Amino acid sequence: MHRQARHAFRKTKRIRSAGAKSLPQKYFVSPEMFAEEQKKIFSKQWLLVGHQSQIPDAGDYVVQQVIGESLIVIRDKSGEIRGFFNVCRHRGTRLKEDACGHASAIQCPYHAWTYGLDGRLIGAPHMDEVPGFDKAEYSLRAVNTGVWEGFIFINLNDGEARLRSEATARQRSGDFISLERWFAPLNGKFSHWNMSILLPAKRIEYDVHANWKLMFENYSECYHCPGVHPQLQKISPYDSAENDLAEGPFLGGFMKINPGKSLTMTGNACGAFVGKIENLQQVFYYSIFPNMLLSMHPEYVMVHQLWPQSPERTLIVCDWFFHPDAFRRKDFNPEDAIEFWDMTNKQDWHVCELSQQGISSRAYKPGPYSSRERIPAAWTNIICALWSAKLGARSREIGLTRSRS
Ligand code: FES
Ligand code: FE
Repeated sequence: MHRQARHAFRKTKRIRSAGAKSLPQKYFVSPEMFAEEQKKIFSKQWLLVGHQSQIPDAGDYVVQQVIGESLIVIRDKSGEIRGFFNVCRHRGTRLKEDACGHASAIQCPYHAWTYGLDGRLIGAPHMDEVPGFDKAEYSLRAVNTGVWEGFIFINLNDGEARLRSEATARQRSGDFISLERWFAPLNGKFSHWNMSILLPAKRIEYDVHANWKLMFENYSECYHCPGVHPQLQKISPYDSAENDLAEGPFLGGFMKINPGKSLTMTGNACGAFVGKIENLQQVFYYSIFPNMLLSMHPEYVMVHQLWPQSPERTLIVCDWFFHPDAFRRKDFNPEDAIEFWDMTNKQDWHVCELSQQGISSRAYKPGPYSSRERIPAAWTNIICALWSAKLGARSREIGLTRSRS
């Protein structure tokens, strides 16, 4: 069993965090720091882009914008999920303009160069008239992709490589870490949710005028719940949080759900259960550095992707997933959960935007965290440790990259 998985749950206020304060203003408003984060965090870490159920068949694809790059994430004929830069190898034209779709091959709209679902160039009109031209040299530029618990991740670090094994990863210079190794601390921890078989019911996107780190902080505490979420607070007491992951890049734990209740508008369960029977009165919340918020309810899983757009703006993509059995039930009512969390999300984003506004003031100074904000304090520690090493070397020490054995 892994080191982190062995951690016992502890009431939030029992987690040690002496004298922690919120981050200084520059972390939330500085364009220079934002650019560095894009370069050193979002270009290097594994980023959530969706779930395998969103591209179930060969040729299904999504187009994802990542730090100014456009990527095609597509399922190939063998069923493998691959990622490519959305850039033609002829004269660079954008290949796919739509956000998602289905294709038997990837054809450039300009001069019709055509690529297989595995990225190989398979058609290039009249290029056989060009001496020395070899199609094999003009495959699409690949991006590292991987699947964890059914969720698709991409990594722009060492972007041209197709790193299939840890052995290959070790041979690469730099701080690339394979997806398997990155998620090794969570091995088996969430397996009873069977997240790889879940199906999507809904996606809602939110354009939030706040720094991405504020959403991580907000997600990591329920100190704000009595005032901000009166509906949530009635079903899930704000002081019931217990955490088992209280340091490092994966943070979180659970909160209690009142007996017989569910986090829905009606307060009733709205689908088939996805978790363990002993978790029927718990909702688990984990943040996965740097762009995933994973919320596991007894009968559904909600996942947020965070995509920073500027120091003061973040695109948040929220998906709801249910067990396949739920879709076959007559009483299946996913909207009951979706509406509940859409309301709760908006309550959260509103206070995050108010925070951003206040933090931008000359009057702002870092303030002390309460005993209910141990996880935001741990999150702040990560960011500070990263920056004290200029987002470089010490990232290994705090678990953002792992030393290689
Ligand atoms: Fe794509 Fe010419 S730019 S085929
Ligand atoms: Fe909240």
